[in-house]
Parts: sequence; structure tokens; C-alpha cells
Amino acid sequence: MAKLTEISKPKANTSWGSGLLFFTVAIVAVALIVVQLDTYETVAYPLHELGETMYVPARKNSASLSGVEKIGSGQLIGPEDIIYDPKSGVAYTGCHDGWIKRVTLSDSLTESVVENWVNTGGRPLGLAVDESGDVFVADAYKGLIKVSVDGKVELLTDEAEGVKVGLADGVVVTKSGMVYFTDATYKYNYPSALNDLLEGRPHGRLLSYDPSTKQTKVIARDLYFANGVELSPDQDFVIFCETFMRRCSRYYLEGEKKGTIDIFAKNLPGLPDNVRYDGNGHYWMALPWDNSLMFTYTQKYPFVRKIFAFTLKHLRKMPDLMKFGGVIVLDLEGKVVGGYYDETWGMTSSGVKIGESLYLGSVTKPYITRLNLTQHPLSLIS
Ligand SMILES: *[C@@H]1O[C@H](CO)[C@@H](O)[C@H](O)[C@H]1NC(C)=O
Repeated sequence: MAKLTEISKPKANTSWGSGLLFFTVAIVAVALIVVQLDTYETVAYPLHELGETMYVPARKNSASLSGVEKIGSGQLIGPEDIIYDPKSGVAYTGCHDGWIKRVTLSDSLTESVVENWVNTGGRPLGLAVDESGDVFVADAYKGLIKVSVDGKVELLTDEAEGVKVGLADGVVVTKSGMVYFTDATYKYNYPSALNDLLEGRPHGRLLSYDPSTKQTKVIARDLYFANGVELSPDQDFVIFCETFMRRCSRYYLEGEKKGTIDIFAKNLPGLPDNVRYDGNGHYWMALPWDNSLMFTYTQKYPFVRKIFAFTLKHLRKMPDLMKFGGVIVLDLEGKVVGGYYDETWGMTSSGVKIGESLYLGSVTKPYITRLNLTQHPLSLIS
């Protein structure tokens, strides 16, 4: 009897095992056919353009684990971009609920007052402030908005070359009043932006708006999710980032190269979002996602992206591609010289140095994170 059990046991296991295998293969086959039949088309990214990886930040940053402060906890829902008006000492941030909030910064947390300023009725992302204190807003749903210093809201533009702005994202304004802003993707809207990543086609644009003529022009097209923009210290070029290609380019406004575009920084260690110059030789660039293995494979294989597009559409889910996030610091030539990076800082969308503090905005967190840079000085890499 003992012998019989010994013999029949593995036998039962084998047939159960092969049944499971058959079942799995069948499910996968059906899934693949269904996904293939899906009309959503995904294409290859031009990954050969990326070149070598330039710098990988420390995966764990002790700075983020000690001494960080939360500003406006519960009052600032998804504070995406942060700008500071040195004249008034007030910072502005755009929140998920459509509010642009005024934050009076103070060393003391309790004295850092958060006020509702204006609600755009959309989703304010990138912000810029001009000499007179007027605020320009790249609103994901509305387009380019101006909020005058006394709170009057005006839509400046929402289309270029007859194509509607699909997802206004980053904005800067020059001393002479020219506005440069990005349309991350004219094809998808804010809630479906992930589909732009999955599809793999460049639907982004860098646009300019001239307040004297009220004209909107396309400066650069075919961008892979056009996101953060920033002016060089001399305002001789505009930096603009392509999130899904992990690179930033510059468009020259002055000098010999005026009107031309070249690469500022490429093969970044993560996906760039807003970038801000600190007035002192460094650009602070937010990376909401790192260049994880999962992201690399997803980007590399259009078929994998097609599967994710399918699961996103039908199950409203896809795997989490990101593990780390934070800010990297670049010098005037676009070389990465350091950063603050952590597992808990995923979805960091902006990093702004004001005084001796770093203020981090986030698409998901309900507060602005502040890090004391005197206590956590940037350790430069050579
Ligand atoms: C940052 O840390 C330094 C040194 O500990 C301290 O003197 C300074 O007040 C801190 N700044 C803020 C904004 O808390």
C-alpha cells in the first residue's frame, strides 16, 4: 500500500501540474490574441539616441529620512510646481483641486501660511512669475493662463497651428514678457497621459506666446512628452525637457545659435519634470520616476506597452514602473553634479532652492516637502 501511494502521488502531481501549465498557456495565448486585436498601436522609441547613462544617484538618501518638514500638510494637494516671487516673499503652487495657493514661507512651520489664491477650474501645473508679479500658469486642461497680481484670471491661448493644446505642462516668462510653455501631448489629456508613454509617439510641443501680438507659435514639435522649461541665467536659451526620452534640449533666444536647438542633457537617471535655476550656477531638476529596470523594459518593447495599455483600459491598472524619485542638480553645462533621491520621493515633480532650503513639489503628496540644505549639503560628484 505504501508503495502505491508513493507511485500515485507524483503521478497525480504531474497531471495536475501539466493541467495548470496548459491552462496558463491557454490564458496567455488568449490574452495575447485579444491584445493583438486591440486597435491601440504602440511604436518603438528611438532609444539609440540616448547614449550612455551619465550618472546614477545614490539609491538611498539619508537626507530624505531625517529632518524633512511638511509644509501645508493637508492643504496642498498635489503641489506640482513651486515658484517663488522674491519681491513679495511669497511662493505659489498649483494643486490638484484647481487652486493656486499662496504660501508665505517662514523658517517656522507654524508661520508658513497657506492661502487659497485663485482657482483655475482646471489643473494648474507649471507656474512662472514676471517682474510685475503676474503669474503665468500652464493648466493641464485649460492651456496658458495669466493671473494678474490682483487675482484676475485670463486665458491667453489654448491652441497653436490649429491644434489644441492637449496638456499644458511647463512655463517660463522672459524679462521682455515672452512666454515659453510646453504642450506635453496634444493627443491625450491629463488623466490619460500614461497612454502617451505607452504609445511611444512624440506628441509634445514647445510653444511661445507673444503678449504684444497675442500669437502662439510652435517652436519645437515631435517631442516625447514636453514637460519642464527653464531660462538660462542670461536668458539666452530656454531649456525644455522630454520626460519619456529622459533628456532636455535648449532653444537659443540670443547669440550665434539664435533659433537653433541642441541637447542640454541626455540619458538622465530618471524621467525629468520641472527644472528650476537657483540663481547660483545650478539647475534643480525633478525626477518623479527613476530609470528602473521595469521602466527600461516597458519602454524598450512596444508589445509590453500594448499589454499595459490594454490592462490600463480594461482593468484601469498597470504595473508601477517607478521605484525612486527626487531631484538632481545640473551645472550650467548640463552635467549632473549631484542630487537628492529616495524611495519615498517618487512622483516628485519640482525642486526649488529658496534660500538655504530645498522645496519639493509632488503630484501625489498633500504637502510641500522642505529639506534644510545647511544640514544636508549637496555632495558634489566629480
Ligand atoms: C537649517 O539648519 C541650520 C543649522 O542647523 C539652522 O541654523 C537653520 O535655522 C535651519 N533653517 C531652517 C529653515 O530651519
